[in-house]
Amino acid sequence: MFKTVTWYQGAVRLIDQTLLPSEVRYIDCKDVESVAEAIESLRVRGAPAIGITAAYGVALAARLISANTYEDFYNALMKDCIRLTATRPTAVNLFWAIERMKQKAASLRDEPLSVICDALLAEADAILREDIAMNYKIGAFGADLIPPGAGVLTHCNAGGLATGGYGTALGVIRSAWDKHHNLTVFADETRPVLQGARLTAWELHQDNIPVTLITDNMSGYFMKQGKIQACVVGSDRIASNGDVANKIGTYGVAILAKAHGIPFYVAAPSSTIDFDIHSGDEIPIESRDASEVHIIGGKEIAPKGIQIANPAFDVTPAELVTRIITEKGAFLPSEIRQYH
Ligand code: MRU
Repeated sequence: MFKTVTWYQGAVRLIDQTLLPSEVRYIDCKDVESVAEAIESLRVRGAPAIGITAAYGVALAARLISANTYEDFYNALMKDCIRLTATRPTAVNLFWAIERMKQKAASLRDEPLSVICDALLAEADAILREDIAMNYKIGAFGADLIPPGAGVLTHCNAGGLATGGYGTALGVIRSAWDKHHNLTVFADETRPVLQGARLTAWELHQDNIPVTLITDNMSGYFMKQGKIQACVVGSDRIASNGDVANKIGTYGVAILAKAHGIPFYVAAPSSTIDFDIHSGDEIPIESRDASEVHIIGGKEIAPKGIQIANPAFDVTPAELVTRIITEKGAFLPSEIRQYH
């Protein structure tokens, strides 16, 4: 099994997801700037995975700071945290993980700097371990919702590549597959960056789980044909009212699912829930470079100079979501407030 994010000999080691599926190559980020660049350029992506990467980025930053006092150390560390925080705006897991690392550093202010550095690395390791454990729990709760023989549609990649391992939406699918070995996955290709085609199809194929790749505009067709019995997606941020931000195109899938009476499940760890915001309207939506839409495989597919829009995420209103599956169970969107 591939390792999405690890600590390796003083560096943050990542599988470079921009090269998949044609090449499996690991890169070692040896400074904070290369960690930030990897997140910005989608070498590592997926909400939990970027949180874990940023946590290791903070641990790396701490080791690279040369300071004699805690104050100097902490101020330098905060600068690096600001850089990591600025990489992507939508996934709340990024901010959650950086905040947890900051609090760890603050809680140890009376300790020697070497002790703080070791503790920060241990904290990043814990975030990674906890994420994998949560994904197995999400998978177990979600598997009960996938009947034998189901066609399961997923959008983008919420798999091992998007997390510490196993995946959220793909964790549900993996767990259901382990249970009855009787399902087939429909993977939306997920334009413009093709996470479904390049990453989801790759992961499932490696695990010998039956997967059919479709373009984003085919899902309604297959729903109408009765080929899809459930949709399962991940999330980048869930508002306290149950509105769900996820990869652009998710909202359309949810509307189609509703129109066809198909359950629409969102699988995410509870760290994806942002209790500070009341509705999806408050979720910042990342706008990415026009070239992602304009160029496919190095080739321009539209005239030069035209207007191009590239929002990376959309918000699915809570009323279209059948259940939110977390490590604590499968809840109605209106029930998630009870966590707080
Ligand atoms: O732009 P990306 O590839 O980071 O977007 C990823 C998604 O939208 C995932 O579905 C989401 O982060 C959940 S990952 C478990």
